[in-house]
Formats: sequence, structure tokens, C-alpha cells
Amino acid sequence: MAADSGSTRLRIAAAVGVTVAVGATAYLLWRYRRCHDLPSERRDPDGGPASALTHKSNGARNDVSLQPSVEACQVAKNSGNDLFRAEKYTEAVECYTQALALCPSDRSPELATCFQNRAAAQEKLGKWEAVLHDCSRAVDLNPKYVKALARRTRANEQLGNKTAALEDITAVCILQGFTNQSSMLTADRILKEMGREKARETFRNRKPMLPSKQFIRSYFSSFVEDGIGDVDVSDTVEDSSFITAIRHLAAGRYESVHQECEREIEEGGRWAKEAQLLRATFLLLVGDGEKAQKDLEFLIASENIPAKVIVNALIKRGSLHMQMQSPTESIADFEHAAELAPDNADVFHHRGQLFMLLERIDDAIADFEKCIKLQPDFALVHAQLAFSKYRRAMVNENESAVKSCLIELESVVKKFPKSTEACALYAQALTDQQEFPKAEKMYDNCISLEPDNATPYVHKGLLQLQWKQDLEGGVGLISRALKVDSKCDFAYETLATIEVQRGNLERAISLFHHAIELARSEMEIAHLLSLCDAAHAQSSVMAKYGLRPPF
Ligand SMILES: *[C@@H]1O[C@H](CO)[C@@H](O)[C@H](O)[C@H]1NC(C)=O
Ligand SMILES: *[C@@H]1O[C@H](CO)[C@@H](O)[C@H](O)[C@H]1NC(C)=O
Ligand SMILES: *[C@@H]1O[C@H](CO)[C@@H](O)[C@H](O)[C@H]1NC(C)=O
Repeated sequence: MAADSGSTRLRIAAAVGVTVAVGATAYLLWRYRRCHDLPSERRDPDGGPASALTHKSNGARNDVSLQPSVEACQVAKNSGNDLFRAEKYTEAVECYTQALALCPSDRSPELATCFQNRAAAQEKLGKWEAVLHDCSRAVDLNPKYVKALARRTRANEQLGNKTAALEDITAVCILQGFTNQSSMLTADRILKEMGREKARETFRNRKPMLPSKQFIRSYFSSFVEDGIGDVDVSDTVEDSSFITAIRHLAAGRYESVHQECEREIEEGGRWAKEAQLLRATFLLLVGDGEKAQKDLEFLIASENIPAKVIVNALIKRGSLHMQMQSPTESIADFEHAAELAPDNADVFHHRGQLFMLLERIDDAIADFEKCIKLQPDFALVHAQLAFSKYRRAMVNENESAVKSCLIELESVVKKFPKSTEACALYAQALTDQQEFPKAEKMYDNCISLEPDNATPYVHKGLLQLQWKQDLEGGVGLISRALKVDSKCDFAYETLATIEVQRGNLERAISLFHHAIELARSEMEIAHLLSLCDAAHAQSSVMAKYGLRPPF
């Protein structure tokens, strides 16, 4: 959970629509309200191999009778533990087998320990089928046996059963009260692998869909020199398809833009290159990365095209590479763009966002600063700069710097009172600092500044959960978000996560599928599929242990 709610934070920071799933957001809400009645592991009665030596003098080694008895079992088990410590695993397995034969059949705790210990030795020998078998026996005897569950996770992974591995590690996380970093990271890793495996096919089969108007608008406003916005439609007498496209764009008739661009390109009109850039942009927005890439490559390889068009194409291809998880290629595109146009603010703004996603905070800060030198009134970038500095101060655990960054964020909000992004980023920092009333006020500001933007409703909803554990209030606000913008994937995702925690699995899954329909990249789909898998695993573990959901 080190990554905190990083992915939601980055959603705002990355106006480009590139989202990177970081951290176990799947279990986000567990932290808001820890389950107080978590079952505890039954005490391992005789320790595992690690504590073997302490038991050495305990048993009457010479008195071993071959009648089943707890004592005889202990002696055999302790010999097994000694052999384990001496790295004689095959012999250790034999001792544990003997211990199991000597253990009275009604002594579940001892039996469970022997199975678990034998599984440990089998693991050292790489006999994964045997590990799986012995761990399962141990877990049958003691369902809250964390060590056996953790070991069975590894066996299931080795044997290629990720679903079973996920269920086991989820049980471990729940039994440990979500306090063990290494278990959480294992859960996160398995979830990510499962998501990635299924995402490709889901992504190929999905229908491209335009995001909400608000999203498109804010995407375009994250560029100030894109070579599209410069085309002055009022001043032109000619009536080309591209000019019509620009008029549609300006009026928010986004669904008509693509077609006009096609026409301009087919006609080989005066604005064919700009039209191709605009078409590529819309292909990116609907999540058709493959076709977008073709257009962008064509433009980048073309001769005699306006510098701004080529630079913008490089920025967009760079972002696309990042979406496809190729950061090296992404950075190369931005380097190329910066060489071609060292005074184009967009290059540094978008590369700064890329660096934030890559957690290269110092590089991000340097780029945002360059961008502001070139475009001193770019409110969004001022906010992102202050927020990046805040993040750096948090990472460095520098309290005085955190304080001054909060002041800086506040002053950005004062300087640009109309900037929703400035308010939203300040609100996120305030939430982080548990300054809930102030954060809420900032989200209210966002909502009144941009009433058709659904994101602040979702954040405000999450705030109600974190601050007041007010489930109804939170859900109400997030549902409002969906009324404001039925294409807000973040709202679907958040609501789905809450429904998982409430134990409404079916509703959760249907909400996740809505979010998947709206996702714009394979990576986002992988993230959502992981959340879905986490939901299945959690609900099955909770049912098994008779746990109540955290809400
Ligand atoms: C994976 O494990 C689960 C639960 O133990 C089991 O029901 C399922 O059959 C296993 N799948 C495979 C392919 O072995
Ligand atoms: C954390 O959990 C793992 C199992 O996933 C376990 O091996 C390890 O000992 C635990 N660490 C602590 C500090 O409890
Ligand atoms: C904390 O940040 C301040 C700048 O705000 C800096 O002067 C100081 O050296 C930093 N302290 C540490 C320990 O890094």
C-alpha cells in the first residue's frame, strides 16, 4: 500500500488520459475502515522449522514408542526440524511423515503443523504438487494458518493456478489485517499478472467510444501549441472540410469531427496534415491506439509539414508509447520533440507528466518549470508544479517542505481562481494531510467552477468515506458524478470498489464492466480486470471465514 491512492491522484495530474495503475487500490477501502473483528491465526503450537532447536531437549527422544501419541509425534517432528535446519530436506520429509503417522488423529493443531512443516521441506525440494497437497491438509485442519496459506500461494503460482494463488494470498492479507507489506505486494503482483493476461483480448473486442465532452475539452486544453488550435476559422473564406471539423470541435460536436477530417485527408486539401493530426487525436481519445499510431508515424516521417504539427505528433506518440508501457520509446519521442522545438511549452508540460508517472519527480519539476518560463499564465502547469514539489516533500518526509508546498498550492489557487485543476490538486494534498474540511471546500470550488466535471464529485465522495466513514454520503456523491457524466469511468470504478467492500459482488462486477467499456487503453483494462479478480477473491475469502465486509 506504499503507493497510497496514487492512481486516483495521477488521474488528475495526467490530463493526457494516460493512467497508470499503481499499488493495491483493490484493497483501498479496507484501510479506510479496518476490520476490527479480524480472526487471528491459531497459534502455531510447536513452531515451524525456524524454532526447531528450542524443542530439542523437550522430548524424551529415547522413549519413542511406536504407539501414536502426541509425545512420539513431537519427537519425530523435532527431528524433522533439526534435519530441515541442516538442509537435509529429503530426510526431514521422512521424519515429518513419521510424525504424522504417530500423531493421534484428533490432534488437529499438531497435525496441521506437521503438514505445514513437511510442505516447507517439499518446497525446498521443489516438489510443488506435494507442497500444495500438504498445505491444503494443514489449511483444512486450521483454516487460519497464515504460514500454510502463504506457502500454498507459492505452490499455486508455481503450478499455474493464479486464481487459487490469489485467493490464498487474499486470505493471508485479511488474516494479517492488511499490515504486512510483503503479502500485499504479492497480492498486487498476482492481480497485475492476471489482469494483463486477460486485458489483451478484452481490449481487442471492445467497441471504441468517445469519452465525455468534459474529458475531451480538458484534453485539448492541455495543449497550447498543438498546431490545430491556431487555425483561425473566423478569418478564412475558404470552406474546407478541415475548417468544418474545427468548427465542430469548437462547438463541442465531437462526434462529427472524425468524418470531416477523413474528407480533408481524402481530398488532399490544404489542411490535410492538420486533419490527419486531428484524426489521430480523436483515435487516441476513443482508445484506438493502433490506428492513431499509423497517422502519427506518417506525420512524423513527412517532409514539409508545419513544425508544430510534427512536435504535437511526437508528444502524442510519446504518450501512446507510455500507455503501451514503453517508457524508453516514450522518452525518446519527447527528446526528439524538445530538440525540434526547445521553446514549445507543450513538450515540457507533457514530458513533466510522463516523468511524474515514472516517479522521476525532480525531472518532472524541472520540466514544469521550463514550461512556465515559456507560458507564464498556464494555470494547470503551475498547479502541477506545486503538486509535484509537494509529492517530493512527502517522499523525502521533509515536514517543513510539505508545509511550504501546501502554502504554494494555496497561492496557485488564489492566483488562478478559475482553475479547476489547481483546486483539485490542492484538495488532494489537503486530503492527504487529513485537512478534511478545507479539502471539502476545495472540491466544492471545483464543482461550482466546472459543474459538468464529474471527477470532483468522486473525490468528494471518497473524502466522505475517509473522513466520516459516511458510506451513504459517499455513494450518493459518486452516483451524482454519474448523473453529471455517464461516461466517468473513475466513478464506475470507485463505486464498484465500494460495492465489493459492501459485499454486493454482482453489482460491483457490473460496474467494473461499465468502467472497462470506457477504458482507453489495454493497461487501464488490465487494472480494472485486476480489481474484478480482487473482488472475486475477497468475497470468496470472506464467505469462507464468515467475515463481514468492512462497511
Ligand atoms: C485452481 O484451484 C482451484 C481452487 O483450489 C480449483 O478449484 C481449480 O480446479 C484449480 N484449477 C486448475 C486449472 O487446476
Ligand atoms: C509477512 O507475510 C509473509 C507471508 O506472506 C510472511 O512470510 C512474513 O513472515 C510476514 N512478515 C512479517 C513481518 O510478519
Ligand atoms: C527540507 O526542505 C527545505 C526546503 O523547503 C530544505 O531547505 C531542507 O534542506 C530540506 N531538509 C531536508 C532534511 O532535506
